[in-house]
Amino acid sequence: MSFNNLEFRKKFPQLEKTFGPRSLIYFDSAASSLKHSDVTDRVNSFNRFESANVHRGAHLTSRQGTENYESAREKVKNFINAEKSEEVIFTRGTTEGINLTAYCLESVFKPGDEVLLSPFEHHSNIVPWQQLAHKTGAKIVVADFDVEEGMSLESFKKAISNKTKLAAFTYYSNSFGNRLPIESMISLCRENNILTLVDGAQSVLSERIDVQKMKCDFFAFSGHKMYAPFGIGALYIKDEHLNTLPPYQTGGSMIDRVQFESTTYAHAPQKFEAGTPNVSGAIGLGEAAELITKSSISEQHEYVLNLRQILLDRLEKMSNIDVYNFKSDSHTGVVSFNINGSHPSDVGTLLDKYGIAVRAGHHCTQPLMDLLNIPGTVRLSLAPYNTELEVDFFLSTMEKVKEFF
Ligand code: ALA
Repeated sequence: MSFNNLEFRKKFPQLEKTFGPRSLIYFDSAASSLKHSDVTDRVNSFNRFESANVHRGAHLTSRQGTENYESAREKVKNFINAEKSEEVIFTRGTTEGINLTAYCLESVFKPGDEVLLSPFEHHSNIVPWQQLAHKTGAKIVVADFDVEEGMSLESFKKAISNKTKLAAFTYYSNSFGNRLPIESMISLCRENNILTLVDGAQSVLSERIDVQKMKCDFFAFSGHKMYAPFGIGALYIKDEHLNTLPPYQTGGSMIDRVQFESTTYAHAPQKFEAGTPNVSGAIGLGEAAELITKSSISEQHEYVLNLRQILLDRLEKMSNIDVYNFKSDSHTGVVSFNINGSHPSDVGTLLDKYGIAVRAGHHCTQPLMDLLNIPGTVRLSLAPYNTELEVDFFLSTMEKVKEFF
């Protein structure tokens, strides 16, 4: 394996922050990754020397800003291997991407139509569909869940009916890290003429994204999970839907011609990007997309999976700990567990006292936690900047934390 973790770590100055004698141990990258210094440098340089509004000004700085913004779109297009850059819509993040899709699809749904979800969905891939159901009379259907196995392809298939209009599902569970069999799920949907939306938030550091190969209709993801700034993300909309969908928000930038009586709209992607966009965020996302595209994701991911395996092997040997590990073909760097007799938040608070950052709670997947009959979990999420020393320190700290319960 040629991935050089120590060199890579140098790109994340936040890891130098100290807690007493040690540096920060950041095991919360599934919530938000740390920011890569090439990305923050690029964003700072834009803000300090290049800032101007885009798609409007006659002046050079605005024209250069527009070029940078559109070049960021091209980099994101390459990152997800979309066919055309118009298929990439800048959003605030995954949540906005899913809301945009649900809003723009309202007219396609009639009473009784169904939206099919997997049991692993984040609230952001549930609530927008509930809103759509509320407005259109559509129904939410959830594929069966098995406490041991998670969701089988068979149970997803069984949940499809002749009323299913759209299926929305996550690529990798944010709470447990397991990968869903999205290729087979999409292929089943296509056979049945069902639209598909993939929540790609957790997938972006785990494998090369290829929306053309995936053949999904919509793919949403966020910059802050891939070394880029907060408040920026992208939604892929397959070319064939770009003209048929109505605009999302309305106002400046998304128009062709406005009169007091009526308006004609710009073509995609502008049609879906009303108002002044988050230009510096988009440039940061473009930078992150390019650096990930050029890196060896598979080597970095193998490195992460190796650390995860060390954690799993040792946690599973500890008494009084339930580790949740659903079978799947692949996995993110997430390890989710509970100490018997404890609340996850108490464990998270104790770990924080040792300078170890984890997330504790339901991870915005309350319905999934209900299916498991637990309030939540303690979730560690590893990234390529984490080290085996950090994992060892966490495991020895766990022996002490366990004594509290
Ligand atoms: N969706 C993010 C998480 O899983 C915030 O932590």
